[in-house]
Amino acid sequence: MKADDLLPIGELARRTGLSVSAIRFYEEKGLVEAWRTEGNQRRFPRSDIRRLSFILIAQQLGLSLGEIEEALSSLPENRTPNARDWAKISKMIRNELDGQIAQLERMRDNLDGCIGCGCLSLKKCALYNPMDEAAQEGPGPRILQA
Ligand code: FES
Repeated sequence: MKADDLLPIGELARRTGLSVSAIRFYEEKGLVEAWRTEGNQRRFPRSDIRRLSFILIAQQLGLSLGEIEEALSSLPENRTPNARDWAKISKMIRNELDGQIAQLERMRDNLDGCIGCGCLSLKKCALYNPMDEAAQEGPGPRILQA
């Protein structure tokens, strides 16, 4: 990698709008990786501008750091990600968001059943257990009743 392609952390902060401490945090989490100069100063590849922008957007979309890390792990390490790489990641995020939307829709539908009830029963209220597939069929021990 050419020296021109490496940025000091302050420059990366300026280019992304992030604080230096935020970049260090992402580095600590392994989402970006700095090279070290002989004087032990951090240098980041220029491609980390897009990588950090992606992290911010993904966080705004509600992805966890673990999910973001998984998505970023599919990016090439030795070259700048291209449009096809980002398209692949976008598809992964879309699938993740589709899952979240489906879960929110189930919770909304369960909420409809709870409006006017208000019991908030740990045993029967589907809002406490939105991933419970059996709860979709109504309250009570649906599997035992089948
Ligand atoms: S509040 Fe009664 S079932 Fe949810």
